[in-house]
Amino acid sequence: MTSAPPNHANVLAQTAEHVRALLADDASGHDWWHIDRVRQLALHIGRTEQADLYVVELAALLHDIADWKFHDGDDSLGPRRASQWLAGLGVDRATIDRVAEIIAHVSYKGAGVATPMRTLEGAVVQDADRLDALGAIGIARTFAYGGHAGQPMHDPGRAPLVHATFEAYKNSQGTTINHFYEKLLLLKDRMQTPTGRQLAAERHAFMQQFLERFHREWRAEA
Ligand code: NI
Repeated sequence: MTSAPPNHANVLAQTAEHVRALLADDASGHDWWHIDRVRQLALHIGRTEQADLYVVELAALLHDIADWKFHDGDDSLGPRRASQWLAGLGVDRATIDRVAEIIAHVSYKGAGVATPMRTLEGAVVQDADRLDALGAIGIARTFAYGGHAGQPMHDPGRAPLVHATFEAYKNSQGTTINHFYEKLLLLKDRMQTPTGRQLAAERHAFMQQFLERFHREWRAEA
């Protein structure tokens, strides 16, 4: 006798509760509300692009449960923890593998490192995660993360770097302002869906305005 497959709505509700409990007190910009925004953006993009919304929502919910940035650069922990969680809920193997593959490839690994997504669902979740790194929210999260990581806010003597490998990106000791040039301003051209590209354009323009003004005020000009 085999047990009935779990109901999608139940799996999603239990997963959301699990992730909310895990990330509730995060102060690095990777809190529950980041996950919730990524989920909403991913569902919006996924609907327009006609992706499998069950896989999209599960991957969006679980994409940061063990981010390499907080686990000594280990990028296999996230997919493993997500797989264990979903297996515990009785989710079928094929769905688990699709979700785990997305989590393994979702994050940014340096300006010179390609992060292709094999599936439409992966492209949708990656675009949603990157959109939450752009615009007003992106700016706020970048400064929150910089403070959390103990980085200087800005140092005009330090030029932004183009990281050719994940290793170099992982080990870089940057400033918060340089992070805009090393990652955030590059994301617009790395969006993978037409809907993601469209949403990124306005957020990108807003960050450019912010940076222009930041530099002007830094020089005490305005
Ligand atoms: Ni994220």
